[in-house]
Amino acid sequence: QRVGDQPASQFTSVKHNIPLYSLENAFNSEELAKWETRWQRQLKAIPEFTYVCELKIDGSAIALTYENGILVRGATRGDGITGEEITQNIKTIRTIPLKLNIDHPPSRVEVRGEAFLPLDVFEGINQERTKLGEALFANPRNAAAGTLRQLDSKIVAQRKLNLFAYTLHIDDGANEDIKYQWDSLELLQEMGFLVNPNRKLCQSLAEVEAYFEEWDIGRKNLPYMTDGVVVKLNDYQLQQKLGFTQKFPRWAIALKYPAEEAPTIVKEIIVNVGRTGAVTPMAVMQPVQLAGTTVQRATLHNGDRVAELDIRIGDTVIIRKAGEIIPEVVQVLTELRPSGTVPYKMPTNCPECNSILVRPQNEAVTRCVNSSCPAILRGSIIHWASRNAVDIRGLGERIAILLIENNLVQSVADLYSLTVEQIANLDRMGTKSAENLVRAIAESKNQTYDRILFGLGIRYVGRVNANILASNFPSIEDLSQASFESIEAIYGIG
Ligand code: IVH
Repeated sequence: QRVGDQPASQFTSVKHNIPLYSLENAFNSEELAKWETRWQRQLKAIPEFTYVCELKIDGSAIALTYENGILVRGATRGDGITGEEITQNIKTIRTIPLKLNIDHPPSRVEVRGEAFLPLDVFEGINQERTKLGEALFANPRNAAAGTLRQLDSKIVAQRKLNLFAYTLHIDDGANEDIKYQWDSLELLQEMGFLVNPNRKLCQSLAEVEAYFEEWDIGRKNLPYMTDGVVVKLNDYQLQQKLGFTQKFPRWAIALKYPAEEAPTIVKEIIVNVGRTGAVTPMAVMQPVQLAGTTVQRATLHNGDRVAELDIRIGDTVIIRKAGEIIPEVVQVLTELRPSGTVPYKMPTNCPECNSILVRPQNEAVTRCVNSSCPAILRGSIIHWASRNAVDIRGLGERIAILLIENNLVQSVADLYSLTVEQIANLDRMGTKSAENLVRAIAESKNQTYDRILFGLGIRYVGRVNANILASNFPSIEDLSQASFESIEAIYGIG
């Protein structure tokens, strides 16, 4: 019952019934205290409350749907709004019940949790991959996410994925019987899920911090990776009153353990021009192992930051990496600086098109404003074709560069008049791959309007705002006629 016979050829996208929100991060006591003040200020009077502390498991969030007690769907988080249907793979996780262990199951139940690989399994997989000469997984989270998206559920079954359940949504009003997160966790356990036993009910932030300290030591002996503590208001009524921002619940926060840091040496300083023309200085460094991955580039953010750090080629620097964030240079060890170095000067001209860079007053970002700069065009095409935009499979950085270098596209619109012959003539392309690409481009015309809006790469129109705009203005014509007031009046924009 747990392993399907046929490997899937691809996954289908599914819209989540309830979005999967992310969590705001706090990195110290002050940030945690600010969060408490913030949620309390939002209420008329400070209520009685308790916090539930849970370990933050470093894995991949998934959503499970049960109808009349039977598991009918498992999906990845995706971008929180749509994910991929991976029911067949989910079923291979033995700690996920195929049938809820309760007498009168509600008609519909959604369970969320973190799928993860135990550390020993992760290391075993990498040892096996070393033997087979395959690329290694950088960390257990990547290995878990990669495993969930395996097309062959037999492989998934071998990988010993596991799941800690932490959220319970019941659809048909039965929710009213459960008033606390703590009780949800107990009920999830009764239903047959694995719930992390290291949870704690806390009366104050002081108790939360004690728990955080305790597990900073304790986590080193856990068989799975933990990168922080999730603090949630226990009372569902309070949760409901506080609601959500565009990205986060206001009633929960992740208190993170400090990011990993490592020293290395700067070999070069380069600038990268993004799709908005923003020029980002980057340090190219001697490769160093950090939080499970090999790092050789770190962002220097902008010209002000470069000046503040006074970073120079040859410097020994401390770099830091937290979660999925791009690594950054946090400190220059000037006492180790070799003699004869010179301060780095930000370029005055675009490294790609040579036009003069501009930096608007009161802005930290330097930009290339030449609309035909190849770097901007390249970035726009990659963004347009990306998974959350119109999702053109096979159109990544390499092809985008080839198309631009060969003068085949001057804008995103030009993609739609490319022919098989034109593409087949490009380096390392053939008729078959050219046909596939032309088909993928044609299919992208059927994408929904919110994805197209996102794909256009308008500043301030990310995935969330594109969705909100698309559901408030039924067509692109309506949107182009929209007044300031009608956009301002939309809930979620303001
Ligand atoms: S609660 C609205 N609880 O952390 C509630 N998340 O950084 C949001 N995570 O996307 C999630 N352990 O993948 C929650 N005990 C836990 C968690 C947890 C790990 C992950 C989850 C989430 C991410 C946010």
